[in-house]
Amino acid sequence: MPATIVVGTQWGDEGKGKFTDLLSKEMSMVVRYQGGHNAGHTLVVDGETFALQLVPSGILYDHIVPVIGNGVVVDPFVLLAEMDKLARRGVDTTRLRVSGNAHLILPYHQQLDALHERHLGKAKLGTTKRGIGPAYADKAMRLGIRVQDLLDEDIFRQKVEGSLTHANKVLTKVFNRLPVDPAELADKVLGECLEPLRPHICDTIDLVHTALEGGQHVLFEGAQATFLDLDHGTYPFVTSSNPTAGGACTGAGIGPKHINRVLGIAKAYTTRVGSGPFPTELFDEAGETMVTVGREFGTNTGRRRRPGWFDAVMLRHAVRLNSLTELAITKLDVLDSLDTVKICVAYEIDGQRVEKMPYHQSDFHHATPIYEEVPGWKTDLSHATEPGHLPPAAQHYLDLLEEQVGVPVSLVSTGPGRDQYIQRTA
Ligand code: GDP
Ligand code: IMO
Ligand code: MG
Repeated sequence: MPATIVVGTQWGDEGKGKFTDLLSKEMSMVVRYQGGHNAGHTLVVDGETFALQLVPSGILYDHIVPVIGNGVVVDPFVLLAEMDKLARRGVDTTRLRVSGNAHLILPYHQQLDALHERHLGKAKLGTTKRGIGPAYADKAMRLGIRVQDLLDEDIFRQKVEGSLTHANKVLTKVFNRLPVDPAELADKVLGECLEPLRPHICDTIDLVHTALEGGQHVLFEGAQATFLDLDHGTYPFVTSSNPTAGGACTGAGIGPKHINRVLGIAKAYTTRVGSGPFPTELFDEAGETMVTVGREFGTNTGRRRRPGWFDAVMLRHAVRLNSLTELAITKLDVLDSLDTVKICVAYEIDGQRVEKMPYHQSDFHHATPIYEEVPGWKTDLSHATEPGHLPPAAQHYLDLLEEQVGVPVSLVSTGPGRDQYIQRTA
């Protein structure tokens, strides 16, 4: 019953998709456990790029059952469009399974997300405007509509009406917008989505447990990341779900005893999209190199990602929050041209050296990074596929990073392609 969790350890876009795809070779099932189409997971296979939003990153393998778990919020129109796009590229999506307990994102959730952001003005969170927050808020308020509701037309219509009774008050009275007609919306969703989705909707809890009980290896694919976690991230500049490893238990319906491997994914530097504190953020040439060489623009939203040095303080905290057993470091090649490379090993806060993540966020907001600076390797790493291919300076950087974080760096990625990686330890 082995289970692996792949989790982002920074602020997202670490390369979770690439490693989920890579590890899928040894898996039977890949389960997305939270988030929605705010995610953009990129796979590059034989020069072809696939940017996935809702479909789990194991989809490219014929032997994988890709599962969207109960913790995910699903926009049915987006899911069908994504499946259609994949099918047109020759990818078989018929095996995809969607939890009947997952909640739906409907167009008014996206409208509310955008309106909330506009209302916040300068204090905006910089959400993806995909309706994630409003859909999870409806779930928590017990106003949500679940995927299984689609299968009972009367129930579905009642739920849409119930949810819109609240949402329409907000739309009309708070934001001065027109109300959404429940019958029209229900007709559209049932008319366009029910039949194509029907064969995919099932009891994913039974599916996952049957696989685990049969000794199959299941991978749980996180979206977003540790510091975007609703409970553990830099609140309120977070997403509305729990990307941390515990989220895999609630979002897929398993207990912790099944999990024997938690692979944290981290870039060799840091990026963040949207607002929020970022102690190691760079506004200089090194940061510009990270953005241009690393192509740090959102997979789906196209937004420029904010760059910064690797932050070992945050990573040590991520190890604790997720019980990380190991780390995969991605995009090491992006730093190839730099003369020196820095790792933040501690913060200075009010004149004190602090090595742990400060619990009070005001401290995090004005933390000054304390760096350890090491020589760059000035070598093209994009063809490095074995530990022996790494020059001593790159090896030293990884050793320092490993020592600082406290878990083994078992995998290193040196390019976007599926084959561009180094296995450092067994
Ligand atoms: P995810 O959201 O964690 O799956 O990551 P994204 O796909 O949003 O962003 C990672 C980006 O970096 C994608 O464009 C990947 O193709 C690319 N990428 C992944 N690993 C590497 C790497 O080692 N080097 C380089 N240069 N690009 C990489
Ligand atoms: P993947 O899975 C990076 C960020 C948004 C915003 C905050 C809240 O590709 O790593 P939301 O729309 O979720 O309410 O936005 O979270 N965000 C991400 N940043 N990668 C992601 O996903 C993200 N998903 C959400 O930019 O700051
Ligand atoms: Mg991404």
